[in-house]
Amino acid sequence: MTRTEPVSDWTTDFEVLDESYVLDPFSRWDELRGTCPIASTDRRGRAWLPTTYEDVTALARDVARFSSIDTAVITTEVNPEDPQLPYGLPPITSDPPLHTWTRRLLLPWFSHAKVASYEPMTRQLCASLVDARLAEGRADAAADYAQQIPVRVIGAILGVPEQLSATFTGWVRDALEFADDPERRRRGNFGIGYYLWDRINERRDEEGEDLLSYLLHARVDGEPIDDMIILGMAMLTMIAGIDTTWSAIGSSLWHLATHDEDRERLVAEPGLMDTAVEELLRAYSPVTMARIVTEDVEFRGCPMRAGDKVLMNFPAANRDPAAFERADEVVLDRAENRHVAFGSGIHRCAGSNLARMELRVALEEWLAKVPTFHLADGAEVLWAGGQVRGPREMEVVFE
Ligand code: HEM
Repeated sequence: MTRTEPVSDWTTDFEVLDESYVLDPFSRWDELRGTCPIASTDRRGRAWLPTTYEDVTALARDVARFSSIDTAVITTEVNPEDPQLPYGLPPITSDPPLHTWTRRLLLPWFSHAKVASYEPMTRQLCASLVDARLAEGRADAAADYAQQIPVRVIGAILGVPEQLSATFTGWVRDALEFADDPERRRRGNFGIGYYLWDRINERRDEEGEDLLSYLLHARVDGEPIDDMIILGMAMLTMIAGIDTTWSAIGSSLWHLATHDEDRERLVAEPGLMDTAVEELLRAYSPVTMARIVTEDVEFRGCPMRAGDKVLMNFPAANRDPAAFERADEVVLDRAENRHVAFGSGIHRCAGSNLARMELRVALEEWLAKVPTFHLADGAEVLWAGGQVRGPREMEVVFE
């Protein structure tokens, strides 16, 4: 199904939801870097698409002129009658000073020590998901496996019951993946928001061990945190960790299903896992974010106006040959890898330790039980794109 009008010129009319771009953005970025390294479009308002590492990281550093107040890659109309979150989703949609202290509150939940404590449950979960498919000898590696992992891990951190995993995944997909459909976006955001609001109210008088209880009892400069900030932070924690990690696990398995030499090498040399995880994150970076231009500015010759959007194209930065040798190849033992899959600057991913652990454990458990697998004959891989790129359906057979 085509969701967008055909693109007339990629330098002045780019469309991130165009089917050809969702399937293969890589060749498009290579082409743009050679002709017009910052493309533009007037679809859904004016927006800019940088494609080099240098430009994306420079934009990320300039938080005064490129604000995070709206990070949605796909702009949709907001119904003014709908209830709004007055502080957005801190810290990701905040600029300093709100950004600074809300980020500081979240970081301890994703420290190395905390993440290590979630590893046994993640490992057990991954093992049981593969076991459930072994007898059949095939699986949808995106839907039956990758999709099932992050939502359960985040659910445990937030104190959300496991039975609601599928509902949550549906809401997060509506909010991010189908963001060009205002009704779906609304349904996703409202589903997550009202659910978490009820949980927040339940926990007010309890001393729980989960993130919601912690935020309810935290004090900043001696004051409790505004309820709407707590709700925004809880929603962000749910939204930020699901589609993203699912996509990274799915894309990595897609790579291993389609590149026998890399899969065989990783099975034979498990010591490569850490560099392989970084390299797969670099090569298949799932996340693009947006910034809003706060004042008219000329950036690298582009006349950006206040209110324009700039897409933080971290995935393209990671494929820039000026920053990485053999940028379009996956080099499992790449020694130096300053990739920006987790962003760059003050908004760098707060959950990166957790994401890395989930990706590593998901690959380890899968490869331990299924060392040889490939795409099923005739299987069509369904890719999602836009804010988060990754496979959503991917039938593989085991050997
Ligand atoms: C492979 C998986 C993931 C990827 C590729 C990823 C990517 C990113 C990126 C690119 C940003 C920067 C946003 C910006 O510059 O506007 C970000 C921020 C963030 N991520 Fe992740 N993320 C992943 C997983 C997670 C997980 C598991 C969590 C845990 C809940 C998480 C929580 C956050 C938070 C809270 C922020 C906001 C940080 C801030 O604004 O200071 N992410 N992530």
